[in-house]
Amino acid sequence: METKIITELTRDNLQLVAHALRHGDVVAIPTETVYGLGANGLDVDAMDKIYAAKGRPSDNPLILHVPNAESIKPLVKEIPETAKALIEAFWPGPLTITLPKSDLVPDRATGGLNRVALRCPDHAVCRNILELAGVPIAAPSANISGRPSPTTAQSVYDDMNGRIPYIVDAGICTIGVESTVVEVRDDGVTILRPGGITKEMLEQVVDNVSYDPFLSSQNEAPKAPGMKYKHYAPDAPMRAFIGNPKDVAEAFNNVIHEQGTKRGAFLVSQETYDLLKDSVHGEFHVYGHSGDAVALAHDFYKTLHHFNECDVEYILAEGVENTGLGVAVMNRMEKACAGHIIYL
Ligand code: TXA
Ligand code: MG
Repeated sequence: METKIITELTRDNLQLVAHALRHGDVVAIPTETVYGLGANGLDVDAMDKIYAAKGRPSDNPLILHVPNAESIKPLVKEIPETAKALIEAFWPGPLTITLPKSDLVPDRATGGLNRVALRCPDHAVCRNILELAGVPIAAPSANISGRPSPTTAQSVYDDMNGRIPYIVDAGICTIGVESTVVEVRDDGVTILRPGGITKEMLEQVVDNVSYDPFLSSQNEAPKAPGMKYKHYAPDAPMRAFIGNPKDVAEAFNNVIHEQGTKRGAFLVSQETYDLLKDSVHGEFHVYGHSGDAVALAHDFYKTLHHFNECDVEYILAEGVENTGLGVAVMNRMEKACAGHIIYL
């Protein structure tokens, strides 16, 4: 199959894509978080094509994307007051809510769970496509399972060329890490995956916000099945350090020395780059100032994809503190490093 990247976002082209989606094709679509691999969320055969294209275990449920809050009514049994408050505050935006599903939603979309995950993206092109398609669009991140999520059309193409007919190119995703996934109940919410909407932001709207215990203990089973898989891994082994730029630069220097002539890649803040640039050779990416979680989130996956292209032999990254959006980005970084994170 030939994969076409659509860069002209005309009404005709969006109609073409919406038509393909409605009729069972898989199309990569942009969102504000990462690119998604979309298919008709009411069509079991179409969703099977997503699992095939990603090489994804089929017990891992999909998020259904909708153009507005109204569209979730036929997909759920009921909408608790807590869900209404969250939707009012954060949709459109990077918040996915799980609610008890209606009979209309196929088990294929939920991996057999009785809850369905729902999200209304804050991306004009995406919402346009969702409106034109007229059906909920199931969309996981548009990467091969286990690899870093894509935040550019080129990264999608690298993984999906030959597997899907269209990629809609709307430039780089603004947030850069996936949505926050929350289980919503009458009495509060549980964060199953940290993301663009932080715990602090949720607490402004609902009482009783907690993290799924799995997120801090590897002994519990995660409620979001996808969280148990190896994820987001670049090709080269990666390690991360968190601390002030002077300590991070020193830790990097020690590892670089150990690695000898091996070719390294370095994801760092401006301050750490300034300390290393004169003595270290290798592939650098500077994401912003030290501690800037928003800048790191924006650049994170894009940089891992770039390092894959450069054939580097090891990767060192400078992380940020576990607060605000830092929780989401460090969750991804920890997985990309297979747990090799050191707090200095
Ligand atoms: O930002 C995003 O959420 C992106 C864009 C494309 O919208 N999508 C995305 O989808 O990240 P995916 O499939 O890569 O991740 C969805 C996560 C998985 O960890 C999955 O297990 C969890 O959400 N999930 C989906 N449905 C669920 C459900 N009914 N109950 C619990 N967890 C669920
Ligand atoms: Mg994913």
